Amino acid sequence: MRPAPGSGPAALRERAASALLAARARTRALTTCVDERELVAQHSPLMSPLVWDLAHIGNQEELWLLRAVAGQEALRPELDPVYDAFEHPRAERPSLPLLPPREAHAYAADVRGRVLDVLERAPVEGGGPLLAGSFAFGMIAQHEQQHDETMLITHQLRAGPAALTAPEPPSAAPDAALLPAEVLVEGGPFTMGTSTEPWALDNERPAHPRLVASFFIDTLPVSNGAYLRFVEDGGYADPRWWRPEGWEQVRRHSLVAPLFWRREGGAWLRRRFGVTEPVPPDEPVLHVSWYEAAAYAAWAGRRLPTEAEWEKAARHDPASGRSRRYPWGDDDPTPEHANLGQRHLRPAPVGAYARGASPLGVRQLIGDVWEWTASDFLPYPGFRAFPYREYSEVFFGDGLKVLRGGSFAVDPVACRGTFRNWDLPVRRQIFSGFRTARDAEPV
Ligand code: AVJ
Ligand code: FE
Repeated sequence: MRPAPGSGPAALRERAASALLAARARTRALTTCVDERELVAQHSPLMSPLVWDLAHIGNQEELWLLRAVAGQEALRPELDPVYDAFEHPRAERPSLPLLPPREAHAYAADVRGRVLDVLERAPVEGGGPLLAGSFAFGMIAQHEQQHDETMLITHQLRAGPAALTAPEPPSAAPDAALLPAEVLVEGGPFTMGTSTEPWALDNERPAHPRLVASFFIDTLPVSNGAYLRFVEDGGYADPRWWRPEGWEQVRRHSLVAPLFWRREGGAWLRRRFGVTEPVPPDEPVLHVSWYEAAAYAAWAGRRLPTEAEWEKAARHDPASGRSRRYPWGDDDPTPEHANLGQRHLRPAPVGAYARGASPLGVRQLIGDVWEWTASDFLPYPGFRAFPYREYSEVFFGDGLKVLRGGSFAVDPVACRGTFRNWDLPVRRQIFSGFRTARDAEPV
């Protein structure tokens, strides 16, 4: 594999500084567009108050960059237990002694000022594994952007008029209607995971060979229009399509459609960031659980792709036999390649981003919607927890399902061909969609 571009010391330090800066700009946008009352409110028992995320971002940054990397003393040791995600589940967080909004902003800004001083002097090689390739700085920029996606989910769950606006995403490419529904990915080995991407997190490592049998995968994510046919065909009333636990969720909560959808007269409407609008048929379906994705696939006579199939479709270049960083190659994503980074507050229609296609012509693997895979979240052979067990290791084998490819809400720094996300199979408030696959009959 080729090394990632721009891997010299100055470039790495510069990349770290700008990734931290970009994350903070987004954090500020998400936490200054509502008033203080809304920052401390709990908009859903599934989520933390926004002001918890804000100070947690600062606290993680302090722990890793000021204490672990630079060996500094704790600024406010009493904050650690309050902002430890494992000590308090989200539902409990509003009753903690949280920093009020002004203090939370000031704490995060204080930490950041000190971090930029540390970064200026930090070695990017010879300083140990946390500093190699400025990994710890990249990890913290990713952590902040992950919470920025979490905060955007909170914004989506929040009642009341829109607090955020953004321009519309691009429309589908002119050739979208002409694309084949699925493509064949030939059987054979490919390289899964990475050992060279400097900011890849522990669960993406190491690179290892995987043998994947021939399969077909959808060219495009499943659209609202396609999903609606499942809904209108009585999909939510037919236990044949559902796993027992999924069927139980459908019955207990009387589910009839994706989260945020509502039927009014003959039309399906959805609520999106405070606005109610008709469900757009050409957009990838969003806010479905793993059970809903798997039920749709069963109804369609198909299945979800495994995680290895998804990554092979996204990274394997049949011409060179090499695994690349993204479907389009090794270059970092631009707005021409993919809908990432909260530039738009919705997925683009299916068939958009022709320049982001894989060599086989599969589109929108990166960006738009997180894609559920069939696979449980498990370690790769040779996995080593780094730098802390609580990022990935404690979640392995817990019935969590892997999502791939990133959504419109995640920044490129926390999204690449190898990036692994995971969640409970019942989860629906995340920016989740899917595409389907099927075995290729042996010839
Ligand atoms: C990888 C998105 C599942 O939000 O729970 C944030 C990321 N880990 N802080 C999550 C994370 C610690 C994590 N996910
Ligand atoms: Fe966190």
